[in-house]
Amino acid sequence: MENFIFQNPTKLIFGKGMIAQLAKEIPAGKRVMVTFGGGSVKKNGVYDQVKKALAGFEVTEFWGIESNPKVETLREAIRLGKEKNIDFLLAVGGGSVIDGTKLISAGLLYEGDAWELVRKGMCTETVPLAAVLTIPATGSEMNNGAVISRKETAEKFAFYSNNPVFSILDPTVTFSLPKWQVACGIADTFVHVMEQYMTAPGQSRLMDRWAEGILLSLIEIAPEIVEKQDNYERMADFMLCATMGLNHFIGMGVREDWATHLIGHELTALHGLTHGATLTIVMPGLWRTLKEKKMAKLVQYGERVWGITAGTDGQRADEAIARTEAFFRSLGLPTRLADAQIGDDTIREIERRFNERNAAFGEDRDVTGTVARRILENCK
Ligand code: NZQ
Ligand code: ZN
Repeated sequence: MENFIFQNPTKLIFGKGMIAQLAKEIPAGKRVMVTFGGGSVKKNGVYDQVKKALAGFEVTEFWGIESNPKVETLREAIRLGKEKNIDFLLAVGGGSVIDGTKLISAGLLYEGDAWELVRKGMCTETVPLAAVLTIPATGSEMNNGAVISRKETAEKFAFYSNNPVFSILDPTVTFSLPKWQVACGIADTFVHVMEQYMTAPGQSRLMDRWAEGILLSLIEIAPEIVEKQDNYERMADFMLCATMGLNHFIGMGVREDWATHLIGHELTALHGLTHGATLTIVMPGLWRTLKEKKMAKLVQYGERVWGITAGTDGQRADEAIARTEAFFRSLGLPTRLADAQIGDDTIREIERRFNERNAAFGEDRDVTGTVARRILENCK
């Protein structure tokens, strides 16, 4: 096990009716800006609950943070927040609204342009932020990451700031999610676990089993929740799986990969593909490409998660990859570039971008532009 420092400062407030807790959690006298996406919260009652809970506060609303939040939109929010002297932010929505609000929280205290913050990659001078989560997927509700896009240049980069001070997770608000978003949320959670798990065995028995516990839970509930979203117990499990998938609890002392995500971000930047659907295309291809290196962990995963016990290591690894791809397809998600009409020109462009940035991703920093091209060739 490697050395590590672990601290997760987010207070989790979980369960039915918990949005009402907002009034208690936000310090009195704060000038609050509440941020939203495109309006789903108006249809499912979340907006009304938030408005009621914030009745005693001076509130400014900012609407229109889109999926894969754009710096062009967030600049508007920062301008408005500065004008209103905002000193507390409440993100009400999915990963996109929370991520976008993380950039706003840094941008409010920054003189320059918000894109500079994104390219610096890190800014911990922020206005406090909290969240009401409406879609289980990213873990943004309990981590310090954000992924921000720039429309003008078709780019998408990760940026790190501070965790939300608290996040409210009421599983009933997920009942209105479309099937596609549930499927993408399951895939995103599954791949977050994999980015922290699928390296080499023997680093931590505990981390491995926590990770496998999340994977097994997802596989068990997935068929039910993609078909029917209003089962409280199932959605509660899904919500907690997603949060635990990327709040760094399963990453203590172990090496991490993240190359699937970094290639996936390029597919979103260039084609607008939903985040979860980029991952289901890239990860099986990455495993096919780096099978030799990841063999021992693929075998462990195959045995413990899919019950694969027969054959040579190579055959067992192939079977584990095939079972994973079949699982993604069973959720209605793409697993090949052709499923998303993505061709060779995109592969060439990603290789070019990675080379230009001197990319060296993955647990061994060996996923360069050339390796990314080989991975994408294996996603055809
Ligand atoms: O905008 P509205 O109208 O609210 O609709 C949203 C949006 O269209 C809708 N939705 C959300 N909750 C709903 C709902 N519809 C009905 N009922 C509800 N309860 O769902 C759509 C997708 O929302 P979005 O926030 O974009 O989804 P997600 O949470 O998957 O976030 C994706 C973004 O997060 C980034 C991704 O790259 C992407 O930009 N990620 C953030 C991470 C982090 N901060 O740690 C890590 C991840 O790997 C990921 O990269
Ligand atoms: Zn993700």
